Parts: sequence; C-alpha cells; structure tokens
Amino acid sequence: MIFNIQPHERTVFDLIAQAARQCQVEAYVVGGYVRDRLLGRPTKDIDVVCVGDGIQLAEMVANSLSPRPKVVVYRRFGTAMLRFEGLEIEFVGARRESYSPDSRKPAVEQGSLEDDQNRRDFTINALAVSLNEHNFGHIIDPFNGLAHLEDKIIKTPLDPGKTFSDDPLRMMRAIRFATQLGFDIEPRTFDGIKRFKSRIHIISKERIATELEKILLTPRPSVGFNLLFDCGLLQLILPEVALLQGVEDREGRAHKDNFYHTLEVLDNVCRKSNSLWLRWAALLHDIAKPASKRFNKESGGWTFHGHEWMGAKMVPKIFRNLRLPLGAEMEFVQKMVLLHLRPISLTKEEVTDSAVRRLLFDAGPDIEDLMRLCESDITTKNPRKMSRYLEGYEYLKERMSEVTEADRLRLWQPPITGQVIMDTFGIEPGRDVGIIKTAIREAILDGEIGNDYDSAFQRMVEEGEKLGLVVK
Ligand code: CTP
Repeated sequence: MIFNIQPHERTVFDLIAQAARQCQVEAYVVGGYVRDRLLGRPTKDIDVVCVGDGIQLAEMVANSLSPRPKVVVYRRFGTAMLRFEGLEIEFVGARRESYSPDSRKPAVEQGSLEDDQNRRDFTINALAVSLNEHNFGHIIDPFNGLAHLEDKIIKTPLDPGKTFSDDPLRMMRAIRFATQLGFDIEPRTFDGIKRFKSRIHIISKERIATELEKILLTPRPSVGFNLLFDCGLLQLILPEVALLQGVEDREGRAHKDNFYHTLEVLDNVCRKSNSLWLRWAALLHDIAKPASKRFNKESGGWTFHGHEWMGAKMVPKIFRNLRLPLGAEMEFVQKMVLLHLRPISLTKEEVTDSAVRRLLFDAGPDIEDLMRLCESDITTKNPRKMSRYLEGYEYLKERMSEVTEADRLRLWQPPITGQVIMDTFGIEPGRDVGIIKTAIREAILDGEIGNDYDSAFQRMVEEGEKLGLVVK
C-alpha cells in the first residue's frame, strides 16, 4: 500500500530522501507518526530510521536547509533531532536489540529495517514508510499492522512473552493505546500481559505514572483501569485502587462495588473537566472505603465512617510511591478527597449560612471542582433519586451565591469615607455625615452612579449642598 503523502509532508520527506541518497543509506519514517497519520490523529513527531548512521543523516538534512537548524545529538542513544516547520524529526540508525532479564537497557547492535521492525512493541507501531527511490511512499508492513489498524487491534509483532519481557513498560502501553484509540487487545497479547505482569517491577515509577496519566487523560479512563485490573497490573502498581473491588454480603445486605463505582465517577468527571488532578481526585475519592468499612449489626447496614479524612491521609503515600508531585497538585487532591461528602450534607433546607460559608472557606478557589466531583459521585440508576440529588446541589449552589453576595455587601465599603466628608465640608462627626454616607452608598447600590471615587465625590458634594453645607 502507498502512504498518502500530504502536501505539507512532501518537502520534509523529499529533503530526507535526498539526504539519505547522499549518505547512501536507506531511510524510513516509522512508528507512531505513521500510525497516527493513518488514523487521522494530529501528530508532530516524526521518527526516521536509516540503515546506517542516524546522526550523520540528521546532519546532512540540516546542511540542506537554510537557515541551518540546530541538530541535537544524543550520542549515547545514537540519535539526533532537529526541528523543521513545526515538526520534531528524530533520526536513528536501524538496530537490533537483545535484552537481559533484569534490565530495560538492551544491548544494541546495528541492524536491518526488518530487525528494527521486529524490536517494536505493537504491529500498528511497526509500520514503515519508505523514503527510498525504488519504492518511495510504500508502506512496509511485515506484521499486518494495516489490517490491525483497520480492525482496531493491539497485538505484539513477535511472541507477546518476548515483546513484554524485553520491555515490560509495553504492557502499560498496550492498555494505554487500547484506551486512547478505542482498540481491543488481541487475546494472546492480553494473556501475555497476565503472564508477565510481575516484570513491571523493573520499570521506573515515573514511567508507570506517565502511562497512568495518559490513561486518565482519555475521555473514558474506566476502559484502561478495568483492563489494568483484569490483567492484574493494577494490583501491583496501584494496590489501593484494586482493593476497592469486591462486594461483601452479610445478612443479605451487600454494599456496592466501590471499584466500579469509582470508575463511573471518574468517567463522569471526565465529561465535566479536563483537569488531570480532578481526575486523580475522582480515582482516589473513596480510597479509604475498604479500610473504614464496618457492618452495623443494629441497623443491618454497611458504614464507611471517616473514609474521607482517612482517604485524604492516604493520598501522600500513593503520590510518593508513584513519584507524583507532592506540592499544590497533591494538596488539591487531598482537599477534594477530604471534602467530597460535605456538599451533600448541605443540601437540606435548614442549612445555616455559616455552614455554607465554612464550606466556601474550606474549598476556597476549588469550590467549582469540588461541586463537579460531587455531581459526578451520583451514580444511582434511579432517575428520581438522581434528579433529587442534582436538585439538592442546585439549591446548594444558589445558597452559596446568596451567602457570597451577602458577605460581599457586608464587607463592601463605599469609596468615600466619613473622614473625607468631614474634611471636605469642615464638619464634626454627626448626623449629616451619616446622611451623606448613606445617600452615596444607596446611589452606588442602585447603580445611579459608578462605584469609584470621583463619582462618589461628586454625589457627596450634591448631597452636602442639599443639607446646606459648602465645600471648604
Ligand atoms: N516503542 C517500542 N517500545 C516502547 C516505546 C516505543 O517499541 N516501549 C517504539 C514504537 O514503535 C513506537 C516508537 O517506538 O511507535 C515511538 O515511541 P514513542 O514516541 O514513545 O511512542 P508513540 O508510539 O509515538 O506514541 P506516544 O507518543 O503516544 O507515546
């Protein structure tokens, strides 16, 4: 099949092809760029593999451009990168890799295009577009990647055991791509993840967290978290979340499955906000439910008393473990977990202003995110209950704006003080000062004059004249 080269790519592809000819090497565009272009996803990173020296090819491409772009060389990896027309183009020599069991760092040798395609993670990521004269624009697809793009399948090019033990991060990548692209993981590949899951321990926490973040930033992260749970990876990388799964039944009373509830809340939040940290908060909002769970014999029901503050206390350990930021982002997540039950308790009519005010104070600038989380937390399938809860939140929101408005008015001071009035007319404290002040305040509140010093001064003079006062 021929790759449909777009006009904006033509120049870049031609330039690389020409430079490759000069260096007498074969060159190919490979990996994520080819995949994303075929899927119609926006992409700006081009990976070029050449059968030879990638750094030399990059220098040659740079030489042919004016002004000559800077070539950033990573000698240790044998790669070089340059920027051109908003694209980031990375060059590398084709390689063959062999891995030892306890490391992600492979022994690397020069190889052919085929070797390079063999060492890649998924068939859809192993597609190459030729930039060589004899077959320019042809897609080289040794593992049926094109068919798998069409059929929406994630599959390793080689035996899954080999691909995953070579680089266990790929297990997370498989699930991340499945979630991002809406693809299915081919059963043997998924089985490979189950078998090799414990190899994830050789991967750094940062890289694991990056994949989790990419899953969280998709429109429906539940897809990824269900897959992570089903293959057993979640139990290893985020055991606290995996522990939410399960239903306990005593005396015929079962509580809901908090894992599936959490995932529903997470998907709901994703419809309301793109904030990564609000999404983390949704994932962790009930994290202490397993630890706080009790069965109350008298009432015959389950309770999770204190799970909000216990949960907030668990957040730092989870963040530290995944090397997530421990500053404002973590504090935000803690605050959301701690406060996620507060709004529901304030939806009743008899709630006092001070209770509403205290919530506003505790949530501070994050009140809107907290309300988004709380609305997302309603997962009842009963439409009557659903609208009752939502109405409760609408009522609370009204109360919050009323209290805010009242407080704003109470704290508001007109721009002219009593002292200015006394100084202007040369009078002592007394009834006239009060009358003028009130008149100015009312005029501003009624919108008759602007809320600024000059307008208020003008009105003060007029009000003073009515009382027979003269400006000194
Ligand atoms: N690759 C791999 N194994 C990895 C990481 C990457 O085989 N653990 C290969 C794949 O062929 C991939 C290419 O290197 O397509 C580029 O990797 P990268 O830029 O990390 O990912 P992309 O596939 O481009 O996708 P994304 O940017 O979404 O991570």
